[in-house]
Amino acid sequence: MKNIQSIITKMTLEEKAALCTGASHWTTTPVERLGVPEMIVSDGPHGVRRVPDVNSIAMESLPATCFPTASCLASSWDVDLIRKMGEALAEECIALNVDVLLGPGANMKRSPLGGRNFEYFSEDPYLAGEMAASIINGIQSKGVGTSLKHYAANNQEFQRFSISAEVDERTLREIYLTAFEKAVKQAQPWTVMCSYNKVNGTFASEHNHLLNEILKNEWGFEGLVVSDWGAVRDRVAALNGGLDWEMPGPQDRRVKEVVDAVRSGKLDEAVLDESVRRILRIVFKAKETPKNGTFDVDAHHELAHKIASEGMILLKNNGLLPLKDQQHIAVIGRAAENAHFQGGGSSHINPTKVAVPFKELQAQAKDAELTYAEGYPTDNSFRQDMIDQAVSLAKSSDVAVLYIALPTFKESEGYDRTDLDLTEQQVALIKAVSKVQPKTVVVLNNGAPVAMNEWIDGVAAVLEGWMMGQAGGVAIANVLFGKVNPCGKLAETFPLKLSDTPPHLNWPGGAGEVRYGEGLFIGYRYYDTKEMPVLFPFGYGLSYTTFAYSNPKVSAKTFKDTDGVTVTVDVKNTGNVSGKEIVQVYVHDQKSGLVRPQKELKGFAKVELKPGETKTVSIHLDFRAFAYYHPEYKQWITEDGDFDILIAASATDIRQTLTVTLESTLNLPCILDKESTIREWMADPSGNAVFGPFYTQMESAARKMFGGGGDNERYATESAIGMDIMEMFNDMPLVSVLMFQQDALPMHPEDLVNGLLMQVHSLGK
Ligand code: BGC
Repeated sequence: MKNIQSIITKMTLEEKAALCTGASHWTTTPVERLGVPEMIVSDGPHGVRRVPDVNSIAMESLPATCFPTASCLASSWDVDLIRKMGEALAEECIALNVDVLLGPGANMKRSPLGGRNFEYFSEDPYLAGEMAASIINGIQSKGVGTSLKHYAANNQEFQRFSISAEVDERTLREIYLTAFEKAVKQAQPWTVMCSYNKVNGTFASEHNHLLNEILKNEWGFEGLVVSDWGAVRDRVAALNGGLDWEMPGPQDRRVKEVVDAVRSGKLDEAVLDESVRRILRIVFKAKETPKNGTFDVDAHHELAHKIASEGMILLKNNGLLPLKDQQHIAVIGRAAENAHFQGGGSSHINPTKVAVPFKELQAQAKDAELTYAEGYPTDNSFRQDMIDQAVSLAKSSDVAVLYIALPTFKESEGYDRTDLDLTEQQVALIKAVSKVQPKTVVVLNNGAPVAMNEWIDGVAAVLEGWMMGQAGGVAIANVLFGKVNPCGKLAETFPLKLSDTPPHLNWPGGAGEVRYGEGLFIGYRYYDTKEMPVLFPFGYGLSYTTFAYSNPKVSAKTFKDTDGVTVTVDVKNTGNVSGKEIVQVYVHDQKSGLVRPQKELKGFAKVELKPGETKTVSIHLDFRAFAYYHPEYKQWITEDGDFDILIAASATDIRQTLTVTLESTLNLPCILDKESTIREWMADPSGNAVFGPFYTQMESAARKMFGGGGDNERYATESAIGMDIMEMFNDMPLVSVLMFQQDALPMHPEDLVNGLLMQVHSLGK
């Protein structure tokens, strides 16, 4: 590694400013006289979109493997496999001369309407963080960098360049930042890409709290922060806020602004130097990996196939699947011939080859006769003739397989969906076909949940195929014919209808802002806590076999938060074919100081079992599995008490429950202040020590004053004004309650509370 400090000392102010802005759409600015090379970045995240000319943003990219998109990856819950995908991506980056791949995306799926949800993993931050960390570790293990994006609270496409996500600190920490935090701590991505939007009124590209305070200082991020393409509005504010590298370039005007700001004293040169240091460190690190060569196209296609097989989810099966002896199969839907395997936008890959679903089905169906009808057009028009043709094929067949792809005009980067529906034609097609052919299988290709109420009861089986990558056609055929036993489980809830979704009343915002009014309660956290029915719950997926859970154990019934606790359970394959089960562990806090979701995913494991085989699964739950972010303490806290550990096959299929007792080791600072309520004084250990002895005195004075003078029992709890006065007083600031009693006090209530505060704050010192 070069001596970066000595290079910085030799750089001119102009060179430093230029380094902090790109030289082209995809490269850093080299400083030849000092031996600083250029670094090349490319989109991501589920394939390498390397445009041959770095001055072009969107020309056709060089052929590369198109792996399944993040919705499918997360549905595999397979961290080892995702790591392998990362390694393969890195091999392709090396062959295509790419230093840093722009991905993965770790944003939460706040609403199923998010146009870019296909690029994101989950509605759950724990799962998304695990996935992001493993793909980053895979890529970076081969000496290629990543860009964890889009930091932060970029959960919609509507006005994504300008809208302000209005989200409280606790929700940010527990929901929207956690996946980023996990990925940074577990994998140290070389770069983090800030998002376009504002967060609580400040552009993410200028956000000191998010970039400097949290990402760099608190989480210890060592790499560089790059802007999303075109996300910088004020270059100097962005540098001060912690944004190191602006993309794309060149941007002569921005370079001049930085130079002028240093000269005028608006920007401390030390701030610029720190960004330069971070950029140089990554540039030189990237150059340690020699580039160019070839990659194994067939092996990567095979890996893409394997991942697609693991990520597909069998949502419904009345016993028709796997297909067996059917001789006539009607294959309906244009996605059978034109595979729909990726989404639109910056992640769009030029695949090395594509498995055609129809051909792959024919290969598995052997001698059976397959017939084909297109079923629906490319556009949004309604074509009864196409439906009629499909119906007549379906009628004369043993089974109908419908390949239904949500079209790009309904789902893509750049715009959100307006509903959860398939097209009118697709719905009519499914209904008409399943009416004449009850043995109808629907195979879906989409990046996010769709509503199925209108047609699901009429069909025999539904396979969620996602945006399955270039080899997904093989995976579909294998699953349909039972060559592969499906094992994927949902990384996001499928709601019954749009109006059920958590942010429904606050989506997509307007007048420059979108309020995250549902707070912590997104995805299953919302449906669970509200006790609402859903179409398919988080964590759900069927198999061709069945699993039994038994013998649940915890390493300790009572444990310290810092030690955590390990959960084990025996899982047995009780069916006739081999299969994989995804065991999920959720934690339910029985009692907490602040409101918490009903339960939260805190661990999972995937286990492969032969028929009759049993394996013990072990999952460790650490401090964070029990903690929540307290906005007043400004830290993650644990509270003493009982927690239920739910060992589950999905968020609504709890197989075993154990209760454990946590002992918090935290010595929390006293946060009582002038506005603290009586209840808060009593709950705080120092407050209780200092104020506790006076509580009874204050209570009896209050009851007397509001008791109407009587001594009888009614007045003891109800008062002359028809209420229990202490129920009200307990949630009033101590000072306000004392104001009512000031005649009886030796000093003014404010002085008295100030005195108590001095005492409590000196206790911990
Ligand atoms: C997208 C990023 C992408 C960048 C470069 C932006 O519009 O939001 O995800 O990496 O373009 O193509």
